[in-house]
Amino acid sequence: MSGAWLQRFERIDVVDLDPLAPWLFRRNHGRALRASATQIKFHRADAMAGLSSLLVAYPDATVFFDNVLGQHRFRMEDELVRAEAELRAVAGLLRGRDWGSVHDLFSGPLSNPLSPIQPALKVAALQSPTGLLAAGLQGDPLHRHLLAQVDAKGPWMDHLTSAVFPVGTAISLISWPFSPTYAHWLQAGWVSRDRDMP
Ligand SMILES: C[S@@+](CC[C@H](N)C(=O)[O-])C[C@H]1O[C@@H](n2cnc3c(N)ncnc32)[C@H](O)[C@@H]1O
Repeated sequence: MSGAWLQRFERIDVVDLDPLAPWLFRRNHGRALRASATQIKFHRADAMAGLSSLLVAYPDATVFFDNVLGQHRFRMEDELVRAEAELRAVAGLLRGRDWGSVHDLFSGPLSNPLSPIQPALKVAALQSPTGLLAAGLQGDPLHRHLLAQVDAKGPWMDHLTSAVFPVGTAISLISWPFSPTYAHWLQAGWVSRDRDMP
């Protein structure tokens, strides 16, 4: 998320559970947002549990999930089926809005810590109505291709986000070498409210 992109907004409401989020957000974006006179308001709240209420409170807001949806499974550790269902439901709740997300798709260890990771792979619209990983971790050809690209070792964690975007959304898949021995594949996409217009 760049300061230049955030400067387009008159007001930004940042919702995060972490008490350090305001400090980090200001450190990263404060200067840019002072220059654009963008108002910032911080809310320490659960954005997933409170999503419906937030959408009612901010009926015209554009929504951006900045590396948060892939964390949902960790907060719902004992209820992964429900976690995935809630992630699938996000697009329906946001129907008629501009919204976007960048989030973990899957992550795991690498066989060869020194293997170079491909910088980024753009992928056009997914066609499957049930999502990228519906066929299971080992079964999906695209998934196998992505894991092979980073020389993945062993089973990788599925962050349950493969069906977050509506079918047909153009997405980017981005490899992120988190450490020399562990990597993530991120998924990024944007949904325009115009797509929901009749
Ligand atoms: C991987 S960090 C990303 C932080 C920041 N957005 C960035 O990209 O640098 C995930 C953030 O999501 C927040 N988070 C996770 N689940 C959340 C939820 N249900 N509601 C609000 N914040 C949540 C965490 O507190 C954490 O700050």
